[in-house]
Amino acid sequence: MEDIGELKRTHRCGELSLEHTGQDVVLMGWVQKRRDHGGVIFLDLRDRSGLVQVVLSPDNNNAAFERANQVRAEYVLATRGQVRRRPAGTENPNMATGEIEVTTSNIKILNAAKALPFQPGDAASVDEAIRLRYRYLDLRRPKNWRTFALRHKASVVIRNFLSEKGFLDVETPMLTRSTPEGARDYLVPSRVHPGSFFALPQSPQLFKQILMIAGFERYFQFARCFRDEDLRADRQPEFTQVDVEMSFVDERDIQDLTEEMLACLYRELLGIELSRPFPRLTYQEAMARYGSDKPDLRFGLEMVDVSSLLADSECRVFSSAVKSGGVVKGIRVPEGAVFSRKILDELTKKVVEWGARGLAWFILEEKGPRSPLLKMMKPEEVESLIAMMGGQAGDLLLFVADQQRVAEEVLGQLRLELAKRLDLVDNSKFSFAWITDFPLLEYNEDEQRWEAVHHPFTSPQVEDLPFLETNPGRVRARAYDIVLNGTELGGGSIRIHNREMQERLFKVIGLKPEDAQEKFGFLLEALDYGAPPHGGIAFGFDRLLMLMLNLETIRDVIAFPKTQSATCMLTSAPAPVLSKQLRDLHIQNVPDKTKHEQGK
Ligand code: AMO
Repeated sequence: MEDIGELKRTHRCGELSLEHTGQDVVLMGWVQKRRDHGGVIFLDLRDRSGLVQVVLSPDNNNAAFERANQVRAEYVLATRGQVRRRPAGTENPNMATGEIEVTTSNIKILNAAKALPFQPGDAASVDEAIRLRYRYLDLRRPKNWRTFALRHKASVVIRNFLSEKGFLDVETPMLTRSTPEGARDYLVPSRVHPGSFFALPQSPQLFKQILMIAGFERYFQFARCFRDEDLRADRQPEFTQVDVEMSFVDERDIQDLTEEMLACLYRELLGIELSRPFPRLTYQEAMARYGSDKPDLRFGLEMVDVSSLLADSECRVFSSAVKSGGVVKGIRVPEGAVFSRKILDELTKKVVEWGARGLAWFILEEKGPRSPLLKMMKPEEVESLIAMMGGQAGDLLLFVADQQRVAEEVLGQLRLELAKRLDLVDNSKFSFAWITDFPLLEYNEDEQRWEAVHHPFTSPQVEDLPFLETNPGRVRARAYDIVLNGTELGGGSIRIHNREMQERLFKVIGLKPEDAQEKFGFLLEALDYGAPPHGGIAFGFDRLLMLMLNLETIRDVIAFPKTQSATCMLTSAPAPVLSKQLRDLHIQNVPDKTKHEQGK
Protein backbone atom coordinates (compact mmCIF):
# COMPACT_ATOMS: atom_id res chain seq x y z
CA MET A 1 0.00 0.00 0.00
CA GLU A 2 1.31 3.40 -0.95
CA ASP A 3 2.24 5.41 2.10
CA ILE A 4 0.29 8.61 2.46
CA GLY A 5 2.97 10.29 4.50
CA GLU A 6 3.06 11.38 8.07
CA LEU A 7 -0.42 11.13 9.46
CA LYS A 8 -0.70 14.04 11.78
CA ARG A 9 -4.16 15.46 11.85
CA THR A 10 -4.03 19.11 10.77
CA HIS A 11 -7.67 20.21 10.85
CA ARG A 12 -11.12 19.18 12.10
CA CYS A 13 -13.70 18.37 9.44
CA GLY A 14 -16.26 20.91 10.57
CA GLU A 15 -13.90 23.87 10.79
CA LEU A 16 -12.97 23.94 7.11
CA SER A 17 -14.32 26.78 4.99
CA LEU A 18 -13.55 28.80 1.85
CA GLU A 19 -10.79 30.44 3.81
CA HIS A 20 -8.83 27.15 3.63
CA THR A 21 -9.09 26.88 -0.17
CA GLY A 22 -5.88 25.55 -1.65
CA GLN A 23 -4.51 24.27 1.67
CA ASP A 24 -3.25 20.72 2.16
CA VAL A 25 -4.99 19.09 5.09
CA VAL A 26 -4.94 15.78 6.95
CA LEU A 27 -8.32 14.81 8.36
CA MET A 28 -9.34 11.88 10.55
CA GLY A 29 -12.79 10.72 11.31
CA TRP A 30 -15.71 8.41 10.60
CA VAL A 31 -17.43 7.81 7.30
CA GLN A 32 -20.97 9.02 7.64
CA LYS A 33 -21.92 8.18 4.08
CA ARG A 34 -20.31 6.93 0.87
CA ARG A 35 -21.75 7.79 -2.51
CA ASP A 36 -20.52 6.50 -5.83
CA HIS A 37 -21.21 8.92 -8.68
CA GLY A 38 -20.12 7.42 -11.97
CA GLY A 39 -16.50 6.82 -11.16
CA VAL A 40 -16.16 9.47 -8.49
CA ILE A 41 -16.54 8.53 -4.84
CA PHE A 42 -17.86 11.03 -2.29
CA LEU A 43 -17.29 10.36 1.38
CA ASP A 44 -18.91 12.44 4.09
CA LEU A 45 -16.23 12.41 6.76
CA ARG A 46 -17.31 13.21 10.32
CA ASP A 47 -15.52 14.11 13.50
CA ARG A 48 -16.84 15.87 16.60
CA SER A 49 -16.66 19.25 14.91
CA GLY A 50 -18.87 18.31 11.96
CA LEU A 51 -18.90 16.90 8.44
CA VAL A 52 -16.94 17.55 5.28
CA GLN A 53 -17.19 16.07 1.82
CA VAL A 54 -14.12 14.17 0.60
CA VAL A 55 -13.85 13.42 -3.13
CA LEU A 56 -11.84 10.62 -4.72
CA SER A 57 -11.46 9.92 -8.39
CA PRO A 58 -9.58 6.95 -9.94
CA ASP A 59 -7.49 9.30 -12.09
CA ASN A 60 -5.59 10.52 -9.05
CA ASN A 61 -4.70 7.23 -7.40
CA ASN A 62 -6.29 3.99 -8.44
CA ALA A 63 -5.23 2.04 -5.32
CA ALA A 64 -6.73 4.66 -3.04
CA PHE A 65 -9.88 4.63 -5.13
CA GLU A 66 -10.11 0.84 -4.70
CA ARG A 67 -9.73 1.25 -0.94
CA ALA A 68 -12.43 3.87 -0.90
CA ASN A 69 -14.65 1.36 -2.66
CA GLN A 70 -14.38 -1.01 0.33
CA VAL A 71 -15.22 1.68 2.81
CA ARG A 72 -18.59 1.38 4.55
CA ALA A 73 -20.46 3.58 7.00
CA GLU A 74 -18.60 4.20 10.28
CA TYR A 75 -15.19 3.11 8.96
CA VAL A 76 -12.46 5.21 10.56
CA LEU A 77 -10.22 6.94 8.01
CA ALA A 78 -7.31 9.27 7.64
CA THR A 79 -7.08 11.29 4.46
CA ARG A 80 -4.65 13.76 3.03
CA GLY A 81 -6.06 16.17 0.46
CA GLN A 82 -6.59 19.70 -0.68
CA VAL A 83 -9.45 22.03 0.14
CA ARG A 84 -11.20 23.47 -2.88
CA ARG A 85 -14.31 25.49 -3.64
CA ARG A 86 -17.08 23.18 -4.81
CA PRO A 87 -17.92 23.50 -8.52
CA ALA A 88 -20.70 26.04 -9.08
CA GLY A 89 -24.14 24.53 -8.58
CA THR A 90 -22.94 21.69 -6.33
CA GLU A 91 -22.79 23.68 -3.07
CA ASN A 92 -24.84 22.28 -0.21
CA PRO A 93 -26.49 25.03 1.84
CA ASN A 94 -27.62 22.45 4.45
CA MET A 95 -24.06 21.62 5.39
CA ALA A 96 -21.87 24.00 7.41
CA THR A 97 -18.92 23.11 5.13
CA GLY A 98 -21.17 22.97 2.04
CA GLU A 99 -19.20 25.50 0.02
CA ILE A 100 -16.02 23.43 -0.05
CA GLU A 101 -14.81 19.86 -0.44
CA VAL A 102 -11.53 18.05 0.04
CA THR A 103 -10.10 16.40 -3.05
CA THR A 104 -7.89 13.61 -1.98
CA SER A 105 -5.44 11.38 -3.68
CA ASN A 106 -5.11 9.00 -0.78
CA ILE A 107 -6.88 7.54 2.19
CA LYS A 108 -5.85 5.21 4.96
CA ILE A 109 -8.32 2.94 6.67
CA LEU A 110 -7.53 3.23 10.37
CA ASN A 111 -10.24 0.79 11.32
CA ALA A 112 -13.11 -1.05 9.71
CA ALA A 113 -16.66 -1.25 11.07
CA LYS A 114 -18.96 -4.24 10.81
CA ALA A 115 -22.51 -3.82 9.57
CA LEU A 116 -24.03 -1.77 12.38
CA PRO A 117 -27.06 -2.73 14.46
CA PHE A 118 -28.29 0.78 13.60
CA GLN A 119 -26.88 3.87 11.98
CA PRO A 120 -26.16 6.59 14.54
CA GLY A 121 -28.21 8.96 12.40
CA ASP A 122 -31.26 6.71 12.71
CA ALA A 123 -30.91 6.17 16.46
CA ALA A 124 -33.92 8.31 17.34
CA SER A 125 -36.24 5.64 15.93
CA VAL A 126 -34.40 2.68 17.51
CA ASP A 127 -35.62 0.90 20.63
CA GLU A 128 -33.92 2.38 23.70
CA ALA A 129 -32.69 -0.98 25.00
CA ILE A 130 -30.71 -1.50 21.76
CA ARG A 131 -29.43 2.07 21.84
CA LEU A 132 -28.20 1.64 25.40
CA ARG A 133 -26.54 -1.68 24.59
CA TYR A 134 -24.58 0.04 21.80
CA ARG A 135 -24.39 3.33 23.64
CA TYR A 136 -21.17 4.32 21.81
CA LEU A 137 -23.07 4.30 18.50
CA ASP A 138 -25.98 6.18 20.03
CA LEU A 139 -23.56 8.74 21.47
CA ARG A 140 -21.97 9.29 18.04
CA ARG A 141 -24.90 11.54 17.22
CA PRO A 142 -24.03 15.26 17.10
CA LYS A 143 -27.16 15.92 19.18
CA ASN A 144 -25.64 13.93 22.02
CA TRP A 145 -22.27 15.66 21.76
CA ARG A 146 -24.06 18.97 22.04
CA THR A 147 -25.86 17.75 25.16
CA PHE A 148 -22.63 16.64 26.79
CA ALA A 149 -20.80 19.78 25.75
CA LEU A 150 -23.54 21.75 27.52
CA ARG A 151 -23.35 19.47 30.53
CA HIS A 152 -19.63 20.13 30.69
CA LYS A 153 -20.13 23.87 30.32
CA ALA A 154 -22.81 23.90 33.00
CA SER A 155 -20.47 22.19 35.42
CA VAL A 156 -17.69 24.69 34.61
CA VAL A 157 -20.04 27.67 35.07
CA ILE A 158 -21.34 26.37 38.41
CA ARG A 159 -17.86 25.49 39.69
CA ASN A 160 -16.52 28.92 38.75
CA PHE A 161 -19.53 30.69 40.23
CA LEU A 162 -19.27 28.89 43.57
CA SER A 163 -15.52 29.09 43.65
CA GLU A 164 -15.68 32.87 43.21
CA LYS A 165 -18.13 33.05 46.10
CA GLY A 166 -15.62 31.34 48.36
CA PHE A 167 -17.02 27.80 48.29
CA LEU A 168 -14.60 24.90 48.63
CA ASP A 169 -15.11 21.78 46.53
CA VAL A 170 -14.69 18.90 48.98
CA GLU A 171 -15.09 15.21 48.21
CA THR A 172 -16.93 13.03 50.69
CA PRO A 173 -16.80 9.24 50.94
CA MET A 174 -18.56 6.83 48.61
CA LEU A 175 -18.18 4.06 51.15
CA THR A 176 -20.13 5.28 54.11
CA ARG A 177 -22.80 4.15 56.52
CA SER A 178 -26.45 3.68 55.86
CA THR A 179 -28.44 6.78 56.88
CA PRO A 180 -32.15 7.29 56.52
CA GLU A 181 -32.99 9.55 53.55
CA GLY A 182 -36.13 7.88 52.37
CA ALA A 183 -34.94 5.42 49.74
CA ARG A 184 -33.35 2.00 50.03
CA ASP A 185 -29.54 1.91 50.19
CA TYR A 186 -27.10 0.24 47.83
CA LEU A 187 -24.98 -1.82 50.19
CA VAL A 188 -21.35 -2.87 49.89
CA PRO A 189 -20.22 -5.79 52.02
CA SER A 190 -17.03 -5.44 54.01
CA ARG A 191 -14.50 -8.26 53.62
CA VAL A 192 -12.52 -7.17 56.64
CA HIS A 193 -15.53 -6.89 58.93
CA PRO A 194 -17.67 -9.95 58.27
CA GLY A 195 -21.38 -9.16 58.44
CA SER A 196 -20.85 -5.40 58.21
CA PHE A 197 -21.73 -3.26 55.24
CA PHE A 198 -20.96 0.11 53.82
CA ALA A 199 -23.74 1.97 52.06
CA LEU A 200 -23.25 4.10 48.98
CA PRO A 201 -24.36 7.64 49.89
CA GLN A 202 -27.92 8.70 49.09
CA SER A 203 -26.51 12.19 49.53
CA PRO A 204 -23.55 13.62 51.46
CA GLN A 205 -25.95 15.18 53.98
CA LEU A 206 -24.15 14.43 57.22
CA PHE A 207 -20.67 14.93 55.83
CA LYS A 208 -21.51 18.42 54.64
CA GLN A 209 -22.91 19.25 58.07
CA ILE A 210 -19.75 17.91 59.69
CA LEU A 211 -17.69 20.12 57.33
CA MET A 212 -19.59 23.13 58.73
CA ILE A 213 -18.70 21.99 62.23
CA ALA A 214 -15.13 21.77 60.94
CA GLY A 215 -15.27 25.47 60.10
CA PHE A 216 -15.31 25.20 56.28
CA GLU A 217 -18.22 27.72 56.18
CA ARG A 218 -18.91 27.25 52.47
CA TYR A 219 -18.84 23.80 50.83
CA PHE A 220 -19.94 22.48 47.48
CA GLN A 221 -19.57 19.25 45.56
CA PHE A 222 -20.80 17.63 42.38
CA ALA A 223 -21.86 14.65 44.44
CA ARG A 224 -22.73 11.24 43.05
CA CYS A 225 -25.73 9.87 44.93
CA PHE A 226 -27.19 6.38 44.95
CA ARG A 227 -30.77 5.44 45.72
CA ASP A 228 -32.42 2.09 45.23
CA GLU A 229 -35.89 3.37 44.41
CA ASP A 230 -38.52 2.95 41.70
CA LEU A 231 -37.29 4.66 38.59
CA ARG A 232 -39.18 7.19 36.52
CA ALA A 233 -38.39 9.48 33.60
CA ASP A 234 -36.69 11.92 35.98
CA ARG A 235 -35.01 9.42 38.31
CA GLN A 236 -31.89 7.27 38.08
CA PRO A 237 -30.39 4.93 40.70
CA GLU A 238 -27.18 6.94 40.53
CA PHE A 239 -27.31 10.61 39.80
CA THR A 240 -25.43 13.84 40.44
CA GLN A 241 -26.35 16.57 42.87
CA VAL A 242 -24.92 20.05 43.07
CA ASP A 243 -24.61 19.95 46.82
CA VAL A 244 -24.12 23.13 48.84
CA GLU A 245 -23.81 23.95 52.54
CA MET A 246 -23.19 27.29 54.30
CA SER A 247 -22.69 28.47 57.87
CA PHE A 248 -24.23 31.52 59.56
CA VAL A 249 -27.07 31.89 57.05
CA ASP A 250 -30.85 31.83 56.92
CA GLU A 251 -33.24 30.45 54.31
CA ARG A 252 -33.15 33.62 52.26
CA ASP A 253 -29.34 33.62 51.93
CA ILE A 254 -29.37 30.11 50.50
CA GLN A 255 -32.27 30.85 48.20
CA ASP A 256 -30.68 34.08 46.92
CA LEU A 257 -27.42 32.30 46.20
CA THR A 258 -29.27 29.52 44.34
CA GLU A 259 -31.19 32.05 42.25
CA GLU A 260 -28.02 33.93 41.39
CA MET A 261 -26.30 30.69 40.40
CA LEU A 262 -29.21 29.57 38.20
CA ALA A 263 -29.45 33.02 36.61
CA CYS A 264 -25.74 32.86 35.80
CA LEU A 265 -26.13 29.37 34.35
CA TYR A 266 -29.10 30.29 32.12
CA ARG A 267 -27.30 33.40 30.92
CA GLU A 268 -24.07 31.57 30.07
CA LEU A 269 -25.63 28.46 28.59
CA LEU A 270 -28.80 29.61 26.90
CA GLY A 271 -28.48 33.38 26.78
CA ILE A 272 -31.67 33.64 28.81
CA GLU A 273 -32.16 36.23 31.55
CA LEU A 274 -34.28 34.68 34.33
CA SER A 275 -36.63 37.04 36.10
CA ARG A 276 -35.87 37.24 39.80
CA PRO A 277 -36.73 36.85 42.59
CA PHE A 278 -38.49 33.56 41.85
CA PRO A 279 -42.06 33.40 43.10
CA ARG A 280 -42.47 31.98 46.59
CA LEU A 281 -45.37 29.87 47.80
CA THR A 282 -45.79 28.22 51.14
CA TYR A 283 -46.48 24.50 51.03
CA GLN A 284 -50.04 25.20 52.18
CA GLU A 285 -50.64 27.78 49.46
CA ALA A 286 -49.20 25.48 46.81
CA MET A 287 -51.47 22.64 47.89
CA ALA A 288 -54.52 24.90 48.20
CA ARG A 289 -54.08 26.61 44.83
CA TYR A 290 -52.40 23.93 42.69
CA GLY A 291 -52.89 20.66 44.58
CA SER A 292 -49.17 19.91 44.42
CA ASP A 293 -45.99 20.75 46.28
CA LYS A 294 -44.29 21.09 42.90
CA PRO A 295 -46.78 23.17 40.94
CA ASP A 296 -46.28 23.86 37.26
CA LEU A 297 -46.78 27.62 37.07
CA ARG A 298 -46.58 27.88 33.29
CA PHE A 299 -50.38 27.94 33.18
CA GLY A 300 -53.30 28.94 35.42
CA LEU A 301 -56.21 26.57 36.19
CA GLU A 302 -56.00 27.41 39.89
CA MET A 303 -58.26 25.73 42.40
CA VAL A 304 -60.97 27.59 44.28
CA ASP A 305 -62.40 26.49 47.63
CA VAL A 306 -66.20 26.69 47.48
CA SER A 307 -66.88 24.72 50.68
CA SER A 308 -68.37 27.67 52.55
CA LEU A 309 -70.94 28.20 49.80
CA LEU A 310 -72.00 24.56 49.58
CA ALA A 311 -71.93 23.54 53.25
CA ASP A 312 -75.73 23.54 53.43
CA SER A 313 -76.46 22.66 49.83
CA GLU A 314 -79.35 20.33 49.10
CA CYS A 315 -76.97 18.56 46.81
CA ARG A 316 -75.69 15.98 49.26
CA VAL A 317 -72.54 15.20 47.26
CA PHE A 318 -71.34 18.65 48.31
CA SER A 319 -72.88 19.23 51.74
CA SER A 320 -72.07 15.82 53.19
CA ALA A 321 -68.40 16.19 52.20
CA VAL A 322 -68.22 19.55 53.99
CA LYS A 323 -70.19 18.31 57.01
CA SER A 324 -67.83 15.39 57.47
CA GLY A 325 -64.86 17.76 57.70
CA GLY A 326 -63.96 17.74 54.02
CA VAL A 327 -64.01 20.37 51.31
CA VAL A 328 -65.43 21.13 47.88
CA LYS A 329 -62.88 22.57 45.50
CA GLY A 330 -63.14 23.41 41.86
CA ILE A 331 -61.26 24.43 38.75
CA ARG A 332 -62.56 26.79 36.09
CA VAL A 333 -61.53 25.57 32.66
CA PRO A 334 -61.69 28.53 30.26
CA GLU A 335 -63.33 27.45 27.00
CA GLY A 336 -63.78 23.95 28.42
CA ALA A 337 -67.47 23.90 27.41
CA VAL A 338 -66.33 22.28 24.17
CA PHE A 339 -65.45 19.09 26.05
CA SER A 340 -67.73 16.27 24.90
CA ARG A 341 -69.63 13.97 27.23
CA LYS A 342 -67.08 11.30 26.31
CA ILE A 343 -64.19 13.47 27.52
CA LEU A 344 -66.04 14.29 30.73
CA ASP A 345 -66.57 10.57 31.30
CA GLU A 346 -62.87 9.93 30.71
CA LEU A 347 -61.93 12.66 33.18
CA THR A 348 -64.37 11.26 35.75
CA LYS A 349 -62.82 7.82 35.35
CA LYS A 350 -59.35 9.23 35.94
CA VAL A 351 -60.43 11.19 38.98
CA VAL A 352 -61.86 8.01 40.50
CA GLU A 353 -58.63 6.13 39.73
CA TRP A 354 -56.74 8.88 41.55
CA GLY A 355 -58.85 8.32 44.66
CA ALA A 356 -61.81 10.73 44.55
CA ARG A 357 -65.42 9.59 44.68
CA GLY A 358 -66.37 11.45 41.52
CA LEU A 359 -66.24 14.59 39.46
CA ALA A 360 -69.02 17.19 39.32
CA TRP A 361 -69.19 19.28 36.15
CA PHE A 362 -71.05 22.36 34.99
CA ILE A 363 -70.93 23.43 31.37
CA LEU A 364 -71.60 27.15 31.03
CA GLU A 365 -73.48 27.76 27.80
CA GLU A 366 -74.82 31.08 26.51
CA LYS A 367 -78.33 30.04 27.49
CA GLY A 368 -77.30 28.93 30.97
CA PRO A 369 -75.46 26.18 32.86
CA ARG A 370 -75.86 22.49 32.09
CA SER A 371 -75.08 19.78 34.68
CA PRO A 372 -76.63 16.60 36.04
CA LEU A 373 -76.58 18.29 39.47
CA LEU A 374 -78.78 21.26 38.53
CA LYS A 375 -81.96 19.52 39.58
CA MET A 376 -80.58 19.08 43.09
CA MET A 377 -79.51 22.70 43.56
CA LYS A 378 -81.34 25.99 43.97
CA PRO A 379 -80.84 28.33 40.97
CA GLU A 380 -79.42 31.08 43.27
CA GLU A 381 -76.92 28.59 44.63
CA VAL A 382 -75.77 27.64 41.13
CA GLU A 383 -75.51 31.33 40.28
CA SER A 384 -73.37 32.06 43.36
CA LEU A 385 -71.19 29.06 42.61
CA ILE A 386 -70.55 30.28 39.06
CA ALA A 387 -69.82 33.78 40.36
CA MET A 388 -67.41 32.47 42.99
CA MET A 389 -65.57 30.53 40.30
CA GLY A 390 -65.53 33.55 37.97
CA GLY A 391 -67.31 31.40 35.36
CA GLN A 392 -68.24 32.79 31.96
CA ALA A 393 -70.14 31.41 29.01
CA GLY A 394 -67.95 28.87 27.23
CA ASP A 395 -66.25 27.69 30.44
CA LEU A 396 -66.37 24.34 32.15
CA LEU A 397 -66.41 24.11 35.95
CA LEU A 398 -65.13 20.93 37.60
CA PHE A 399 -65.48 20.07 41.29
CA VAL A 400 -64.28 17.40 43.67
CA ALA A 401 -65.89 16.99 47.10
CA ASP A 402 -63.76 14.98 49.50
CA GLN A 403 -61.35 15.12 52.39
CA GLN A 404 -59.07 18.12 51.86
CA ARG A 405 -55.94 16.18 50.96
CA VAL A 406 -57.74 13.90 48.51
CA ALA A 407 -59.61 16.79 46.85
CA GLU A 408 -56.45 18.86 46.47
CA GLU A 409 -54.22 16.07 45.21
CA VAL A 410 -56.81 14.81 42.75
CA LEU A 411 -57.55 18.27 41.40
CA GLY A 412 -53.79 18.84 41.21
CA GLN A 413 -53.47 15.85 38.89
CA LEU A 414 -56.58 16.87 36.98
CA ARG A 415 -55.07 20.32 36.47
CA LEU A 416 -52.05 18.77 34.71
CA GLU A 417 -54.29 16.52 32.62
CA LEU A 418 -56.43 19.48 31.54
CA ALA A 419 -53.36 21.54 30.63
CA LYS A 420 -52.14 18.69 28.46
CA ARG A 421 -55.50 18.23 26.73
CA LEU A 422 -55.92 21.96 26.15
CA ASP A 423 -52.29 22.38 25.09
CA LEU A 424 -51.69 25.09 27.70
CA VAL A 425 -48.07 24.23 28.44
CA ASP A 426 -45.57 26.52 26.79
CA ASN A 427 -42.40 24.42 26.53
CA SER A 428 -40.20 27.41 25.86
CA LYS A 429 -40.93 28.83 29.33
CA PHE A 430 -38.80 28.22 32.42
CA SER A 431 -40.99 28.73 35.42
CA PHE A 432 -39.15 28.55 38.74
CA ALA A 433 -40.70 28.76 42.19
CA TRP A 434 -39.74 28.26 45.81
CA ILE A 435 -41.99 26.17 47.99
CA THR A 436 -41.40 27.00 51.64
CA ASP A 437 -42.70 26.11 55.11
CA PHE A 438 -43.05 22.39 54.49
CA PRO A 439 -44.43 20.34 57.33
CA LEU A 440 -41.58 18.93 59.42
CA LEU A 441 -43.17 15.53 59.92
CA GLU A 442 -45.77 13.28 58.38
CA TYR A 443 -47.42 10.23 59.84
CA ASN A 444 -46.39 6.90 58.37
CA GLU A 445 -49.49 4.71 58.69
CA ASP A 446 -47.63 1.48 57.89
CA GLU A 447 -44.98 2.02 60.51
CA GLN A 448 -47.33 3.86 62.88
CA ARG A 449 -44.88 6.63 63.57
CA TRP A 450 -44.02 10.18 62.61
CA GLU A 451 -41.25 10.58 60.06
CA ALA A 452 -39.32 13.51 58.64
CA VAL A 453 -40.69 14.96 55.41
CA HIS A 454 -37.28 16.25 54.31
CA HIS A 455 -34.74 14.53 56.58
CA PRO A 456 -34.41 14.33 60.36
CA PHE A 457 -31.63 16.94 60.49
CA THR A 458 -33.95 19.73 59.37
CA SER A 459 -34.70 22.44 61.87
CA PRO A 460 -38.28 23.01 63.03
CA GLN A 461 -39.62 26.58 62.90
CA VAL A 462 -39.10 28.16 66.30
CA GLU A 463 -42.68 29.34 66.81
CA ASP A 464 -44.00 25.79 66.22
CA LEU A 465 -41.65 24.17 68.73
CA PRO A 466 -44.24 24.03 71.54
CA PHE A 467 -46.22 21.51 69.41
CA LEU A 468 -43.35 19.21 68.57
CA GLU A 469 -44.44 16.49 70.97
CA THR A 470 -48.14 17.36 71.34
CA ASN A 471 -49.15 17.95 67.73
CA PRO A 472 -46.22 16.96 65.48
CA GLY A 473 -48.23 17.31 62.26
CA ARG A 474 -48.65 21.02 62.87
CA VAL A 475 -44.94 21.83 63.08
CA ARG A 476 -43.43 23.53 60.06
CA ALA A 477 -39.86 22.93 58.96
CA ARG A 478 -37.26 25.47 57.91
CA ALA A 479 -37.22 23.56 54.61
CA TYR A 480 -37.66 24.68 51.03
CA ASP A 481 -37.79 23.14 47.58
CA ILE A 482 -37.02 24.73 44.28
CA VAL A 483 -39.42 23.74 41.53
CA LEU A 484 -39.04 24.15 37.79
CA ASN A 485 -41.95 23.58 35.41
CA GLY A 486 -43.70 21.18 37.78
CA THR A 487 -40.59 19.15 38.68
CA GLU A 488 -38.73 19.25 41.98
CA LEU A 489 -35.30 20.49 41.07
CA GLY A 490 -33.79 20.76 44.50
CA GLY A 491 -34.42 20.86 48.19
CA GLY A 492 -32.73 22.04 51.31
CA SER A 493 -33.16 23.34 54.80
CA ILE A 494 -31.68 25.08 57.78
CA ARG A 495 -30.34 22.29 59.97
CA ILE A 496 -30.51 21.51 63.62
CA HIS A 497 -27.17 22.55 65.14
CA ASN A 498 -27.87 21.78 68.73
CA ARG A 499 -27.60 18.35 70.32
CA GLU A 500 -30.62 18.68 72.56
CA MET A 501 -32.86 19.64 69.68
CA GLN A 502 -31.51 16.83 67.50
CA GLU A 503 -32.15 14.29 70.27
CA ARG A 504 -35.63 15.69 70.78
CA LEU A 505 -36.43 15.25 67.09
CA PHE A 506 -35.05 11.71 67.00
CA LYS A 507 -37.37 10.91 69.90
CA VAL A 508 -40.42 12.31 68.09
CA ILE A 509 -39.69 10.11 65.07
CA GLY A 510 -39.54 7.08 67.32
CA LEU A 511 -35.78 6.59 67.39
CA LYS A 512 -34.80 5.20 70.78
CA PRO A 513 -31.85 7.02 72.45
CA GLU A 514 -29.67 3.90 72.17
CA ASP A 515 -30.50 3.54 68.45
CA ALA A 516 -29.89 7.26 67.87
CA GLN A 517 -26.55 6.85 69.60
CA GLU A 518 -25.69 3.77 67.55
CA LYS A 519 -26.64 5.31 64.19
CA PHE A 520 -25.84 8.97 64.68
CA GLY A 521 -23.57 9.07 67.71
CA PHE A 522 -20.85 10.73 65.59
CA LEU A 523 -23.21 13.58 64.65
CA LEU A 524 -24.56 14.06 68.18
CA GLU A 525 -21.03 14.14 69.50
CA ALA A 526 -19.91 16.65 66.84
CA LEU A 527 -22.85 18.90 67.75
CA ASP A 528 -21.34 19.09 71.23
CA TYR A 529 -18.11 20.67 70.02
CA GLY A 530 -19.08 24.07 68.70
CA ALA A 531 -21.45 23.50 65.77
CA PRO A 532 -22.31 26.75 63.94
CA PRO A 533 -25.82 27.46 62.67
CA HIS A 534 -25.88 26.18 59.10
CA GLY A 535 -28.05 25.17 56.19
CA GLY A 536 -27.87 24.21 52.56
CA ILE A 537 -29.46 22.87 49.45
CA ALA A 538 -28.88 20.22 46.80
CA PHE A 539 -30.25 20.20 43.32
CA GLY A 540 -30.38 17.44 40.80
CA PHE A 541 -27.78 18.32 38.16
CA ASP A 542 -29.08 15.73 35.67
CA ARG A 543 -32.64 16.84 36.25
CA LEU A 544 -31.73 20.47 35.75
CA LEU A 545 -30.02 19.73 32.43
CA MET A 546 -32.93 17.60 31.26
CA LEU A 547 -35.29 20.52 31.90
CA MET A 548 -32.95 23.20 30.54
CA LEU A 549 -32.50 21.32 27.28
CA ASN A 550 -36.15 20.27 27.07
CA LEU A 551 -35.30 16.58 26.88
CA GLU A 552 -37.75 13.76 27.52
CA THR A 553 -35.82 11.71 30.03
CA ILE A 554 -32.97 12.06 32.47
CA ARG A 555 -31.21 9.25 30.56
CA ASP A 556 -30.55 11.69 27.72
CA VAL A 557 -28.16 13.73 29.86
CA ILE A 558 -26.29 10.79 31.44
CA ALA A 559 -23.55 9.16 29.34
CA PHE A 560 -24.18 5.66 30.64
CA PRO A 561 -27.62 5.56 32.22
CA LYS A 562 -29.45 2.59 33.67
CA THR A 563 -32.76 1.30 32.35
CA GLN A 564 -36.07 1.57 34.20
CA SER A 565 -35.21 -1.75 35.83
CA ALA A 566 -31.85 -0.40 37.06
CA THR A 567 -29.59 -2.36 34.74
CA CYS A 568 -26.74 -1.18 32.56
CA MET A 569 -27.37 -2.54 29.06
CA LEU A 570 -23.80 -1.89 27.96
CA THR A 571 -22.02 -3.91 30.63
CA SER A 572 -24.95 -6.11 31.71
CA ALA A 573 -24.52 -4.98 35.31
CA PRO A 574 -25.61 -6.07 37.82
CA ALA A 575 -24.24 -9.56 37.24
CA PRO A 576 -23.51 -12.65 39.32
CA VAL A 577 -20.05 -12.91 40.87
CA LEU A 578 -17.77 -15.90 41.51
CA SER A 579 -18.52 -18.04 44.57
CA LYS A 580 -14.99 -17.28 45.74
CA GLN A 581 -15.74 -13.57 45.78
CA LEU A 582 -18.81 -14.25 47.87
CA ARG A 583 -16.90 -16.53 50.23
CA ASP A 584 -14.27 -13.79 50.75
CA LEU A 585 -17.08 -11.46 51.70
CA HIS A 586 -18.70 -14.02 54.01
CA ILE A 587 -21.84 -13.87 51.93
CA GLN A 588 -24.09 -16.69 50.90
CA ASN A 589 -26.46 -16.48 47.98
CA VAL A 590 -30.04 -17.31 48.93
CA PRO A 591 -31.88 -18.26 45.74
CA ASP A 592 -34.86 -16.06 44.94
CA LYS A 593 -37.68 -18.47 45.76
CA THR A 594 -40.25 -16.80 43.55
CA LYS A 595 -37.96 -16.91 40.51
CA HIS A 596 -36.96 -20.48 41.25
CA GLU A 597 -40.56 -21.61 41.33
CA GLN A 598 -41.44 -19.71 38.18
CA GLY A 599 -38.53 -21.39 36.44
CA LYS A 600 -39.77 -24.90 37.21
P1 AMO B 1 -33.27 15.52 48.09
O1 AMO B 1 -33.46 14.12 48.49
O2 AMO B 1 -34.49 16.40 47.99
O3 AMO B 1 -32.33 16.30 49.10
O4 AMO B 1 -32.50 15.56 46.71
C1 AMO B 1 -32.16 16.77 46.07
C2 AMO B 1 -32.41 16.70 44.57
O5 AMO B 1 -31.75 15.59 43.97
C3 AMO B 1 -32.49 15.18 42.82
N1 AMO B 1 -32.80 13.73 42.92
C4 AMO B 1 -32.68 12.86 41.90
N2 AMO B 1 -32.28 13.02 40.64
C5 AMO B 1 -32.25 11.94 39.85
N3 AMO B 1 -32.57 10.69 40.25
C6 AMO B 1 -32.96 10.46 41.52
N4 AMO B 1 -33.25 9.21 41.92
C7 AMO B 1 -33.04 11.59 42.42
N5 AMO B 1 -33.39 11.73 43.72
C8 AMO B 1 -33.24 13.04 44.00
C9 AMO B 1 -33.76 15.98 42.80
C10 AMO B 1 -33.86 16.48 44.22
O6 AMO B 1 -34.60 17.68 44.30
N6 AMO B 1 -29.42 16.05 51.28
C11 AMO B 1 -30.64 16.65 50.79
C12 AMO B 1 -30.43 18.08 50.36
C13 AMO B 1 -30.22 19.06 51.49
O7 AMO B 1 -30.99 19.02 52.46
O8 AMO B 1 -29.31 19.89 51.37
C14 AMO B 1 -31.15 15.85 49.61
O9 AMO B 1 -30.52 14.93 49.11
O10 AMO B 1 -33.60 17.04 41.87
